[in-house]
Amino acid sequence: MYREPVRVRPLGPRDVDAVCARVEARVAAAAARSTALVGTLDHDELRAVVSAVTPAWVARSRGRVVGHLVTTMIDRTQRRAWIPPDGASFDDPAVLRGLLDAAASVWRDAGASGYAAWVYDEPTEVDAWATCGATLSARRGVRALSFPADRGTPAGFDLRRAGPGDLETALTLDRWGDPPGGRPPDEQERRDEVASLLEDPDIDYLIAELGGRALAQAVVMPLAPRRGSRAPAVHLSAVAVDPDRRGRGLGTALVESVLERARRAGHVVAEVNWRTVDPRVERFWRGRGFTPTQALVERPLPV
Ligand SMILES: CC(C)(COP(=O)(O)OP(=O)(O)OC[C@H]1O[C@@H](n2cnc3c(N)ncnc32)[C@H](O)[C@@H]1OP(=O)(O)O)[C@@H](O)C(=O)NCCC(=O)NCCS
Repeated sequence: MYREPVRVRPLGPRDVDAVCARVEARVAAAAARSTALVGTLDHDELRAVVSAVTPAWVARSRGRVVGHLVTTMIDRTQRRAWIPPDGASFDDPAVLRGLLDAAASVWRDAGASGYAAWVYDEPTEVDAWATCGATLSARRGVRALSFPADRGTPAGFDLRRAGPGDLETALTLDRWGDPPGGRPPDEQERRDEVASLLEDPDIDYLIAELGGRALAQAVVMPLAPRRGSRAPAVHLSAVAVDPDRRGRGLGTALVESVLERARRAGHVVAEVNWRTVDPRVERFWRGRGFTPTQALVERPLPV
C-alpha cells in the first residue's frame, strides 16, 4: 500500500523532464533484463512525444513525479485506449490505480469502452495491472535471426506468396487460426481483412503447400522502427496449420522457413504476439526460440 499522499493531474510542461527520465530508466532496465530489447532512446524524440501526446497524466507525491500515464491512441475499431510499454510508470500499484482512475472518465468521454496496455512481461508489472482489474491476454515474443550461414530451408512443402486470387483458400486457412471455443470474427470483417492483406505489397501472405494442397499459412510484415525495439524487424501473425496435421512438426518447419526468408531479406529480429488462452500455443512459440518481452493486459472500463 502506498502511504504517501499522491495527486494525479494532466501532464504539463514542468513534468516533461521527470517523465522522460522515468521512461529512459524504464527502457534501460528492461533492456538489462532482456537482450531482445534496446536500452537507449533518442532523447529529443522522446521529449517531443511526451510533450505532445494527449491525454496524459502524472502522479506526484511530495513534489516528486511517482508515476505517469500516456495513451497513444484510441483503437478506431474496438474503441480502446492503448498504452505502450513506455507509456506508464508507477512507483507502487496504488499509483497506477490512481492514474487509471483519472484516465477512465476521459477515455470514456472519447468513446473508449476499455483499455489495452503492452507492459513489460515481468511478474511485478503484470501483477500491478492485475490488482487494477486488468487481465493478461497475450504475450509478445522476440527472436534474433542469427542462423548459421549454411542452414538449409526445411523441406517437405512449397512456400509461396499468395495474392488476391487466393482469397477463398486464405479464408479457409485463416479460420484454422481461430482460438478453440472462442467467438470467431464476423465473416465479412474477416473477408475484408484477409483481402486487404493479400493486396498489400508490403505484406507477405505465405501459404505452405504439398502437392498443390494448402497445409498452413503465415502472414509476415516488416515493422516500422519502434522505441526500445531492435530493427529491422518482422512481425509474424496468423500462423495456422491444418487441424488434421497439427503436432507433427509442420508448424515448426513453416516458422523456420519464414524466419530464414526474413533473415535473407535483411531482418535481424522477428516478433510474434500470441494469445495466452491456449498453453500449447505458448509452448509452441517458446519452443521455437521466441522469448517473451511484453505482455498485453486488458480491461473493459467499469460502467
Ligand atoms: C500453433 C500451431 C501453429 C503449431 O503448429 P503444429 O504443426 O501443430 O506444431 P509442431 O508440430 O511443429 O510443434 C508442436 C509443438 O507445438 C505445440 N502445439 C501447439 N498447438 C498444438 C496443437 N494443436 N497440437 C499439437 N501440438 C501443438 C506442442 O505443444 C508442441 O510443443 P513442443 O515442440 O514443445 O513439444 C498449430 O497448432 C495451430 O495452427 N494452432 C491454431 C492456430 C494458432 O493458435 N496459431 C498461433 C497464432 S499466434
